[in-house]
Amino acid sequence: MKIKVNDKLRNTQELLSAEVLSNRVYELAQEINSSYPQDENLTVLIVLHGSLIFAADLVRHLTMPTEITTIDLKSYISDSSNGMKSSNNIKVLSKLPETIRDKNILIVEDIVDTGRTLKFLIALLTEHGVKSINTCTLLNKPSEHIEPIAPKFVGFDIGNVFVLGYGLDLNGKYRNLPHILELI
Ligand code: XMP
Ligand code: MG
Repeated sequence: MKIKVNDKLRNTQELLSAEVLSNRVYELAQEINSSYPQDENLTVLIVLHGSLIFAADLVRHLTMPTEITTIDLKSYISDSSNGMKSSNNIKVLSKLPETIRDKNILIVEDIVDTGRTLKFLIALLTEHGVKSINTCTLLNKPSEHIEPIAPKFVGFDIGNVFVLGYGLDLNGKYRNLPHILELI
């Protein structure tokens, strides 16, 4: 079934189709599977809300014993001129569970823009005494990095465009779209 884009959502074009996403998510999972020992536990840390859809698809292809936990971070602020922009002000809206200590963590992000969120999260996890940290992001905007952050597993490098769908939002909406659109 094809889901029609809401008529009110204008000035967008498809960047990544549902099929392209699904194929790449499968490949990413294979990359992750082959870089971890299959007999060690992995804890997938889903960064809410943007990574929810991507992570749900990704974890179903992982083959090691996998736990799932979440953290609710807010790093984007509304900008009256051009929609949304990255913010220096990262808020933790939920606490990390104490049980995260000594775990092998795979951070799953929707998108790395400036890299500030990832840097913040890595510092937070380090404070919590985790055993290892790796990072996986569906989308990466290399030209926008401010922090010297290189996510280990990257779905797609993209340019400096605002994207929505497949978990990513525009003012809280459109996370449910099965594909990724860019604002034009
Ligand atoms: P930083 O700059 O900290 O930003 O790397 C990462 C977070 O910013 C959000 N983000 C976006 N959200 N469309 C979105 O819906 C975008 O194009 C976009 N760029 C950044 C996202 O929540 C990410 O976790
Ligand atoms: Mg967002």
